[in-house]
Amino acid sequence: MKIGMIGGGSVAQTLGAALLKAGHDVVIGIRKVTDDELAKPRNFTNTLKDWIAQTGGRVATMAEAAAHGEVVFNVTGGLVSVEALKLAGAQNLAGKVLVDVANPLDFSQGMPPFLPAELSVHTSLGEEIQKAFPAVRVVKAFNTVGAAVMVNPAAIREAHDLFIAGNDAAAKDVVRGIATRDFGWTSIRDLGDIGGARAMEHLLPLWLRQWTLGGNPTINVHIAEG
Ligand SMILES: NC(=O)c1ccc[n+]([C@@H]2O[C@H](COP(=O)([O-])OP(=O)(O)OC[C@H]3O[C@@H](n4cnc5c(N)ncnc54)[C@H](OP(=O)(O)O)[C@@H]3O)[C@@H](O)[C@H]2O)c1
Repeated sequence: MKIGMIGGGSVAQTLGAALLKAGHDVVIGIRKVTDDELAKPRNFTNTLKDWIAQTGGRVATMAEAAAHGEVVFNVTGGLVSVEALKLAGAQNLAGKVLVDVANPLDFSQGMPPFLPAELSVHTSLGEEIQKAFPAVRVVKAFNTVGAAVMVNPAAIREAHDLFIAGNDAAAKDVVRGIATRDFGWTSIRDLGDIGGARAMEHLLPLWLRQWTLGGNPTINVHIAEG
């Protein structure tokens, strides 16, 4: 499948590498494709120049990555996601499955980051993206685990869940397929329409608190039923 990544940080690189390994044709999209940008140090991960050398993947503009993808991942910072998706171009995204992995975390006051009221009290980033791009089939997924766990759920020995939410059942099937076939997820909980993104983004304070106190990013939650 042709896959576009909007964003070139650690999540784009980790998902992109795993999807290339699974046989997909992946293009990472950033704002400006220059030698300096490709060589620029990026938080907690490789330069894109190294990523290209290691994976054989391609890097292009956000608009080119969106146009390339049959499925497109939003892997930008949550506070700038709508802006980034506008650069990717509504026309390049229309009708496509957009996997929204982003969390609207505000780091402006240091650690821990918080969910800003305008993107969390009566809404969520997933819902705001769906509103801003009505022709796009938004599926919130993968945002509740660290990048390494997204593509390797077996790193956690105990039972644990991946959550998905979105308005389009067929789009959710596409994401379910990627999660199970390409990454090995076995427990996927469908939280219904895109309103379920609210619950998924609200898991972040719990995840961050546990990570900060426990020091282990290889963690996730599991819904236990009686
Ligand atoms: N780290 C994890 O394990 C993890 C887990 C779950 C969810 N998430 C979420 O995944 C998302 C990606 O995280 P990340 O750490 O990989 O990447 P990131 O560093 O948060 O952001 C990556 C991209 O955001 C783009 N960007 C920054 N400012 C922009 C702006 N004003 N307009 C348009 N684009 C802009 C950058 O484009 P340029 O390359 O052009 O600068 C960059 O490629 C975040 O929302 C994060 O909360 C992360």
